[in-house]
Amino acid sequence: MNDKQLVALQAAKYVKNGMLVGLGTGSTANYFIEELARLTHDEGLKFTTVASSTISAKKAQSLQLPIVALEHINCIDLYVDGADEITPDKTLLKGRGSDLVKEKLLATAAAQFIVVADASKLVNHISQNFLIPIEVIPFAWQLAKKSLEKLGGIGELRPNAAKDGFWITSHGSYVLDMQFDKNLDASTLNALINNTPGVVEHGIFCGLADVVLIADNGTVSER
Ligand code: 5RP
Repeated sequence: MNDKQLVALQAAKYVKNGMLVGLGTGSTANYFIEELARLTHDEGLKFTTVASSTISAKKAQSLQLPIVALEHINCIDLYVDGADEITPDKTLLKGRGSDLVKEKLLATAAAQFIVVADASKLVNHISQNFLIPIEVIPFAWQLAKKSLEKLGGIGELRPNAAKDGFWITSHGSYVLDMQFDKNLDASTLNALINNTPGVVEHGIFCGLADVVLIADNGTVSER
């Protein structure tokens, strides 16, 4: 069993009968979804799910998990998702897979948000290894980019897979992948980007994670 699978199994232990559970997006979240299916089948656990992306909804449906649409909920019991970077104060960078909008809605709506990752995701500061994904309204991308550049941001629109156009998120936005001065702390940057007209959402998750589960060479620890 690899570390991503191990940590996903640990997170599944938090799921109790009757819960509404948010499903994250990515390879670690996929292991969590698979474990939920096993728990339903083998142990009769009963819960409902809500997905953070079309891909996790499809995965849940393929495993016959009960699923409700995001527009039908106003809170959830538990959200389990991966992250691209995790700092010591549990600030996250997410969104490599560009499903930021639903991910942040579910992380905010959850009574408990559990982050699952292997030790490769631990960093000292946000944007240590990855650019910050910033979803922008397509018609506003140039104006938003200019405003973000005034904050010291450097970056470009994310290209699509064929490199003949631009990436469109599941929310219908473009993505600016940007880096900022490393001396700007994540909560300041979070507020500045939130305040930028044309920005729909971005990948810094400040003060949202309740529990971080890290698997490192077969051992899971909680932060
Ligand atoms: C998607 C995410 C993912 O949770 C993040 O990219 C981690 O993915 P993985 O579990 O495959 O390493 O934020 O938007």
